[in-house]
Amino acid sequence: MRYTQETGVIIEKREIAPGIFDVAVSLPVIAKAAHAGQFVNIICGDYLLRRPISICGFDPEKGTLRMVFEIRGKGTKWLAERETGDTLDVVGPLGHGFSLVDNTKKAVIIGGGIGTPPLLPIAKFYGGNATVITGFRTASAAILQEDFEAAGAKTILCTDDGSAGFHGFTTQALEKHLGNNECDIIYTCGPKVMMKGVARLAEARGIACQVSMEERMGCGVGACLCCVCGTKGKDGDAQFTRVCLNGPVFDSAEVDWDA
Ligand SMILES: Cc1cc2nc3c(=O)[nH]c(=O)nc-3n(C[C@H](O)[C@H](O)[C@H](O)COP(=O)(O)OP(=O)(O)OC[C@H]3O[C@@H](n4cnc5c(N)ncnc54)[C@H](O)[C@@H]3O)c2cc1C
Ligand code: FES
Repeated sequence: MRYTQETGVIIEKREIAPGIFDVAVSLPVIAKAAHAGQFVNIICGDYLLRRPISICGFDPEKGTLRMVFEIRGKGTKWLAERETGDTLDVVGPLGHGFSLVDNTKKAVIIGGGIGTPPLLPIAKFYGGNATVITGFRTASAAILQEDFEAAGAKTILCTDDGSAGFHGFTTQALEKHLGNNECDIIYTCGPKVMMKGVARLAEARGIACQVSMEERMGCGVGACLCCVCGTKGKDGDAQFTRVCLNGPVFDSAEVDWDA
């Protein structure tokens, strides 16, 4: 794994939904090495453990990294209180990201809530051949819709309460979409229950599916084993795999969803 520790200046910060922040940080070395689906680990104040945040965008020429995060606890609250001009201590890029196969293929991208940010680079790769289905609790929590549209992707917004777009879950919208449209590959990130449903739909139709598992992490570099998830070995036997090192992205068929 090739990663580096870099101190970067926050050059842009916006609150894009209540409690959800979009930041651009000057991190030229990490931005140059970054790939869709990887993450960075950030020191958040005095907390011993760095907090993992996905790479939502990277610009190797400008040397910037984009991250979108939600306040969940003390670490992300500290992060949200940083302003432009402040510096962040970041390690990355970490983990094994998405495989972007061929942008003439039809890709369907499914994001749930704060699992949506790492999917934006995939939409940029597939452009007009991407359909992005995203789900949020309510209209005001919806993020990145304009970014997916600017990437050329078709977007299907779902809300649990019906306040915008399709009233229902992303898995229902996906099932409907797959009934009427071609799809060569599926990518997903979000709550585990959603990804399990997406994986089942993909498997039933023989469509390749990549999932990003956002388990709780400690070290982020393979040393502490606190991030393991259940996977299937070569003979289908149960095993545990480090998400920070071998993931966060896995082939959905590798994941043991019931472990
Ligand atoms: C590979 C990876 C990529 C991630 N990318 C993003 C991202 O792009 N944007 C974003 O907002 N968040 C992302 N997360 C989740 C983020 O790391 C956690 O929300 C954050 O570490 C919480 O830290 P905290 O100190 O604020 O909260 P804590 O006080 O540590 O925890 C607060 C609450 O959040 C829960 N929590 C902590 N870690 C996770 C996790 N990994 N998954 C689900 N719940 C968790 C805890 O169980 C607790 O209920 C990612 C996590 C991983 C593993
Ligand atoms: S977070 Fe320590 S091994 Fe994965």
